[in-house]
Amino acid sequence: MSDSNLIDGRAIAAEVHESTGARVAALRERGVVPGLVFIRVGEDPASQVYVGMKERMSAKLGIQSTTHVLAGDAPEAELLALIEKLNADAAVHGILVQAPLPRHIDGARVYSAVAPGKDVDGFHPVNMGKLVLGDPSGFVPCTPAGVHELLVRSGVPVAGAEVVVLGRGNIVGKPLAALLMQKAPHADATVTVCHSRSRDIAAHCRRADILVAAMGVAEFVKADMVKKGAVVIDVGVNRVDDPAAPKGYRLVGDIDFAAIRPVAGRITPNPGGVGPMTIAMLLQNTVRSAEAATAARA
Ligand code: GUN
Repeated sequence: MSDSNLIDGRAIAAEVHESTGARVAALRERGVVPGLVFIRVGEDPASQVYVGMKERMSAKLGIQSTTHVLAGDAPEAELLALIEKLNADAAVHGILVQAPLPRHIDGARVYSAVAPGKDVDGFHPVNMGKLVLGDPSGFVPCTPAGVHELLVRSGVPVAGAEVVVLGRGNIVGKPLAALLMQKAPHADATVTVCHSRSRDIAAHCRRADILVAAMGVAEFVKADMVKKGAVVIDVGVNRVDDPAAPKGYRLVGDIDFAAIRPVAGRITPNPGGVGPMTIAMLLQNTVRSAEAATAARA
């Protein structure tokens, strides 16, 4: 089969980066350097990789990024104090606390501590609330925003479409459902959210015009769960043991890509689908925050 049914996340992310880079240049011309701070707690290997990718892309676009690494056993109070300091720092336009956090830290308290106007992750209750209410002044979480942008820029009709989202997590499934059901251009979908207690998930999936897999189970979605011609978006990143692989494991998504590709109308590769879009939306949110802070000062 040709490449024609692949949704190229890297190419679409590059389009978004181009426009973000131009906005950064315009800000810099006015003497404003967009500033983004990453906070990692502990040495989760996947988080190290993700934050590293975000740092490199920030630098490429002219966004000034700084990373704070706290010890894995750092008290929650230390993290909250750092966030408070960054909230008050006018050079910081975006603050991202990389998930997952160690168990002794209350994520809800941490994400609520980030100033909503600097919450480029969109995890603060105010931003989540605005998303649910359809108020576009908030920040939308980056992975759902990236999935939406992929659909829109690929010309996939969303209005009226049957969308099935697998997974109800706060980072992807829940905000994505809110975003796609919105009464708004490129939204207006009929959204079903399936989760670990859903009955007959396969039957729900087979009705989907757009199927988004974000439940974090390796290759959960099989070809017989996909309607012919459906658009399939794979958000999953799962480690599976593979003694033959150099690291002893390999990364797979939430869908059986090889079997589904011939059935799907459009499909995201993984890697190279949703992942690059998450970073693109993060940096777009950061520039928007810098623009807003500058406008408020003018
Ligand atoms: N971990 C996995 N995805 C994300 C994300 O979008 N933001 C943060 N902060 N952590 C994550």
